[in-house]
Amino acid sequence: MCGIVGYIGKNNALIPVLNGLKNLEYRGYDSAGVAYTVKNNNVICVKQVGRIDALLAELGQLNNYTTNLAIGHTRWATHGSPTRLNAHPQSNNDSSIFVVHNGIIENHDAIRSMLKKDGYYFASNTDTEVIPNLIDHYYKKSQNLETAFELAIRQLEGAFAIAMISAFKPNVIYAAKLSSPLAIGISKSGNMVGSDASAMNDVAEKIVYLEDYEIATIKNSSYKIKNYKMAKNINRQPEQIELENIESSKGNFAHYMLKEINEAPKTVQSAILGRIKLETHSIKLGGLERVEEQLDNIDRILIVACGTSYYAGLVGEYLIEEIAGIPVEVQQASEYKYRSEPLSKNTALLAVSQSGETADTIAALKKVEGSGTLKLGIVNSPGSTISRITDAGVYCHAGPEISVASTKAFMAQVTVLALIALKLGEGKSSLYINLLNELPAIPQKISEVLKSADTIQEIAKKYASYKDFLYIGRGYDYPLALEGALKLKEISYIHAEGCPAGEMKHGPLAMIDELFPTFALAGGKSLSQKTFSNMQEIKARNGKIIVVTTKKSVKALKDLADDMIVIPDTNDQLMPLLEAVVVQLFAYYVALHKGLDIDKPRNLAKSVTVE
Ligand code: F6R
Repeated sequence: MCGIVGYIGKNNALIPVLNGLKNLEYRGYDSAGVAYTVKNNNVICVKQVGRIDALLAELGQLNNYTTNLAIGHTRWATHGSPTRLNAHPQSNNDSSIFVVHNGIIENHDAIRSMLKKDGYYFASNTDTEVIPNLIDHYYKKSQNLETAFELAIRQLEGAFAIAMISAFKPNVIYAAKLSSPLAIGISKSGNMVGSDASAMNDVAEKIVYLEDYEIATIKNSSYKIKNYKMAKNINRQPEQIELENIESSKGNFAHYMLKEINEAPKTVQSAILGRIKLETHSIKLGGLERVEEQLDNIDRILIVACGTSYYAGLVGEYLIEEIAGIPVEVQQASEYKYRSEPLSKNTALLAVSQSGETADTIAALKKVEGSGTLKLGIVNSPGSTISRITDAGVYCHAGPEISVASTKAFMAQVTVLALIALKLGEGKSSLYINLLNELPAIPQKISEVLKSADTIQEIAKKYASYKDFLYIGRGYDYPLALEGALKLKEISYIHAEGCPAGEMKHGPLAMIDELFPTFALAGGKSLSQKTFSNMQEIKARNGKIIVVTTKKSVKALKDLADDMIVIPDTNDQLMPLLEAVVVQLFAYYVALHKGLDIDKPRNLAKSVTVE
């Protein structure tokens, strides 16, 4: 993953670079570093393990610096553990060329062996360290930094967004991109390079997104872009930076995750705003209008996504199939890209992503490029790569999600999938009017669920010391079992498995004993009786059970469940929107009780921009 930022201009470069790094922390936060020029053309590099705050402490008062050129990096370790040595910037052996890199250099071993023969040595365990040394190798031959940079870039295989500065030419930032996002930020006081707009929006007013195989030469009042594959200069018009205001404060909440869970009613409200027309019993999705004709001919939808977005996709599969009668398949993007499954020309590929920058999901979209397949997106981040490379799509409008664990984005994704299902199923199913009327009532019902936070906290405290958990559900409740298990794993580090309730007897039931509790999702009406039978099977094996259910089942479950969370009733198809808040709160309170770093769980990052 990793975040990259750089500035060259009239002002103290470290201030926009450090501000940019703060905004990029969602991409990784295990170590960080900067390289900046000082008088006599030297470059100084400062790195620190941990968050940007640790780097800031190391740097001291930023106002005391006078540099006009700097690059910075916040890391999510791929090659080499998170140490100061492995942090970026990485330099060549002479410490005259400094590189920050996001991505993975797949042929780093071959390049390292080649350079070693020339006498180069390597101090870190990173793949990145080969880049500044390869540039150095070509610089020694050509004495031209631009040529050396291009020759090195041409030799790299894998995925990269790279920014480089050098003592040899301390008035330029060189940048290059292949399969990892990178953009140039433009302002009157200087130019920037960054992984996304948020890295640069403190200073830059306009942005130019780089495309694959492009190299940029960035100076303080000009920049040039070249496609090195086609050996052609590129003239691309800058766009205005449009960013939603990032609410940097947690308000009265202890964590962003809790704040974002509590935003669920507003999130669902924003996702349906202006899109449900009750007067005409219709759905308006502006983002899909330009492909309406193609959509009419779609006979299959393939949803690709990762993690929580994948589970939202699973809810979407049930919704679209039931409401619109269109066959849907959901695939994890990381697997889809390696499959050789043929797509018919009437299949639409629908990518679901909060960040719009997930490398696996982007790769899935790129796989079908040029095949005529309609590429659709459900994305939360405006202007992100997925929103730019799809033919059409629907924004989630959930606002920035800061906590690494996705909560409100899931709510928005499921809501948008319900809207798409309704749009595709307009008039087709008896459910249509029913759901059209019920969706606007969901925000209020979620508010009701949020009132159970204290009860959920009490239950979470009781179970916080268990080492394993099984989550079960059937039908629309099943994807929630998967999402509940993921939430618990990622922020509380408790082993949890999600499983269809009916599948339990085919294996997972063997794990159940008094130390292996089950979280049963049984809010839906049509299949909950069957889930109750599965709960009996668990009870018979001394397993403890927490159940999420509605009022009418309380009596029936009194002796069966050890703990119960009662939520309002709604259509089975919309039940995931109420149950999601319960599993999110449960995971949150378990992690809180364990005293963990909830918003930034270990080993993870918000945006996963590597394979
Ligand atoms: C889990 C979580 C991840 C993301 C996944 C996809 O809480 O946040 O599983 O859902 O990395 O990310 P996006 O939606 O940005 O493509």
